[in-house]
Amino acid sequence: MCGIVGYIGNREAYPIVLKGLERLEYRGYDSAGIVLYDGQDLQLCKTQGKVLDLKKKSEKENITKGHVALGHTRWATHGVPNDVNAHPHYSNSGNLVIIHNGIIENYASIKEELIKRGYVFHSDTDTEVLVNLIEEIQKHEGVKLGKAVQIALNQVVGAYAIAVFDRNKPDEIIVAKLGSPLAIGVGEDEFFIASDASPFIEYTNNAIYLEDEQMAIIRKGRDVRVRQIDGDKQVAPYIQELQLNLEQIEKGGYEHFMLKEIYEQPEAIKDTYRGRLRINDGIVKMAGLEDNIHKFLNAKRIIVVACGTSWHAGLVAEYIFEDLVRIPVEVEYASEFRYRNPIINSDDVVIAISQSGETADTLAAIKLAKENGAFVFGVCNVVGSSIARESHAGAYTHAGPEIGVASTKAFTTQITVLTLMALKLAKRNGRISQSEFHQYLAELETIPAKVERSLEVDSHVKYISSIYKDVANFLYLGRGYNFPVALEGALKLKEISYIHAEGYPAAEMKHGPIALIDEQMPVVVIATKKGHYEKVISNIQEIKSRKGKIIAVVTEGDRDVKLLADHVIEVPETYEALTPLLTTIPLQLLSYHIAVMRGCNVDQPRNLAKSVTVE
Ligand code: M6R
Repeated sequence: MCGIVGYIGNREAYPIVLKGLERLEYRGYDSAGIVLYDGQDLQLCKTQGKVLDLKKKSEKENITKGHVALGHTRWATHGVPNDVNAHPHYSNSGNLVIIHNGIIENYASIKEELIKRGYVFHSDTDTEVLVNLIEEIQKHEGVKLGKAVQIALNQVVGAYAIAVFDRNKPDEIIVAKLGSPLAIGVGEDEFFIASDASPFIEYTNNAIYLEDEQMAIIRKGRDVRVRQIDGDKQVAPYIQELQLNLEQIEKGGYEHFMLKEIYEQPEAIKDTYRGRLRINDGIVKMAGLEDNIHKFLNAKRIIVVACGTSWHAGLVAEYIFEDLVRIPVEVEYASEFRYRNPIINSDDVVIAISQSGETADTLAAIKLAKENGAFVFGVCNVVGSSIARESHAGAYTHAGPEIGVASTKAFTTQITVLTLMALKLAKRNGRISQSEFHQYLAELETIPAKVERSLEVDSHVKYISSIYKDVANFLYLGRGYNFPVALEGALKLKEISYIHAEGYPAAEMKHGPIALIDEQMPVVVIATKKGHYEKVISNIQEIKSRKGKIIAVVTEGDRDVKLLADHVIEVPETYEALTPLLTTIPLQLLSYHIAVMRGCNVDQPRNLAKSVTVE
């Protein structure tokens, strides 16, 4: 999962590509590189580290001129993160240069063959193998670059979004896609290439999203020719108008994207239900669901496939779907589902949840589900993403771009969409009455204001963070609807502060984790009034008697937990099924403040990337 950016036109390419790389750094930040064509030759600069390091190096070395450029920000797969393994990569002759997001699985055998033919490799990457394979085909078969790329891609196994440039043909760039995203920005006499549209949003609103197994020849000042990789079929490019704006992808005065995105949640949730939650008409309007409602109502089972935070949203969905709709739900890690030979029937509905819509395991899981005849419904944030396109139908979360690697608003907006779906279905199959339905909608409409109130605990949470910032372990406990929130709270803390954290169903604690509790162990307990309150109080007593430190998330005005806990954080009261939308807020803030206090890179935690497009 790396970020790729390219430009061909009449402007100076350097600032465009560099800015674009900064915007794509969420996809990986182990190393960065840029190649520019200055009208005569190629100039390459690459370095281990971030785009800022690349900027310093390229400006020092005066590599900033040219009207064509390719840039790359890397999340290492083959080969350690260092200067040599950084992209772009040259072919042996130095004529071709490539950037690549993805993995070439059969690179080793191709490399062996190329070595036999005299090729020399400088890096450990699969990408350098691909560019030399293209060069070998060009030489051996005497074909043009586009054809050579096509022949090469038919020989490789794996995933890719690539851009290839030949210094002998400086008015064109060849791009291709399979399994990794690739957008082409179409301007006046200029074209942009990027893993998503954010690098070119201030230049053009027109974009072509390549489909899997498509390649394109981008010809400067002329056109974009799209064709299938596995044949010679030309495809008419579909130019889409983008809805993204620049403000949405900038920090807007916040110190970090994560904090900005935490604070955006009231608006993001409103955006999610806008036009869908129609109290006056007494309906939930969701075209993707409406058009396929019988698939859901006749389903024997719903299978949710997702990863990470999206998987946690899936767990919340399990509770609400089973509670309100009474259809059995199974929640699967996409990475397990795709490989464990699961039983999938044609009367199963598979809901794939993914912020990015590009997660490789989730994508593979839905392909498997489709092959087995299941109906696939995608819940994605990124419009036009691979999962959104691969699903039979779906609903977008409309959370706006999420840049921080730690998911925040993606989680709450996914829950909002899934709740709307559950309510619509429950009403349609008669499991809830019109008045219950109405009450739920009315309560859901109060959630943005309640999230805002939940954000008011920020300075108190910051104070709590200062007390526990140096501990080695954290435990998070919740029951019912708040068990997934406990898992999510623990994931947030470990991914951005590198503190070991475990989430557990509160009652499971006595089956093992209780052994961990001593006076050093902070335990975050979600103990809201609605949802097994008395039982959670008993769990708190058990922690207290072992001297654990209790940080409790409680309902406003709570008295009982206050008597037991070391710290309480209040959130407004709501229906039990909607509590995750509120209880998750202080846990996001807790992980954020602890990570900042520990000096961690909140938006770009080590070893991670925003969208995991490799398995
Ligand atoms: O884009 P997706 O929602 O499919 O991503 C899934 C996970 O990679 C993602 O939620 C990850 O766990 C986040 N970093 C968690 O904050």
